[in-house]
Amino acid sequence: MPKTLPADQARRLLAAAREAMANSISTWSNFPVGAALRCADGTVYTGCNVESASLLQVVCAERVALLKALSEGRREFTHLAIIAQKRPAISPCGLCRQMLFEFAPELMIVLEREDGEPVQKPLSSFLPDPFVLP
Ligand code: THU
Repeated sequence: MPKTLPADQARRLLAAAREAMANSISTWSNFPVGAALRCADGTVYTGCNVESASLLQVVCAERVALLKALSEGRREFTHLAIIAQKRPAISPCGLCRQMLFEFAPELMIVLEREDGEPVQKPLSSFLPDPFVLP
């Protein structure tokens, strides 16, 4: 069962996601998103969404953070904070849920409630029946 992060650390992770959101390249959607992925040792990798003029190419903030961490050799992840400028309590898209599950099935998702406080929900509650290769 994923562990709940103490509230002050959850707030810090959301703040890191918000900071990363400032680098968002969301020219087409005008929907900036930021993410901060916490490794088991407490290290944090951040990401923002990146859009291309070739409109089918969009990489969500969550996958940017995950790919940055994976490409640095990191493999153990505990918490992922996500924030969107226009709707702070954003819910990760299906593609990201699936990819996050493959690398971090025990991940806890940290979102920002309407009142600004963090809310934490296990990834498994977003993706109850994930695809797994036989
Ligand atoms: N987006 C994310 O970065 N994360 C999500 O969980 C949902 C959507 C981005 C993709 C695109 O750049 C913009 O938000 C609008 O869909």
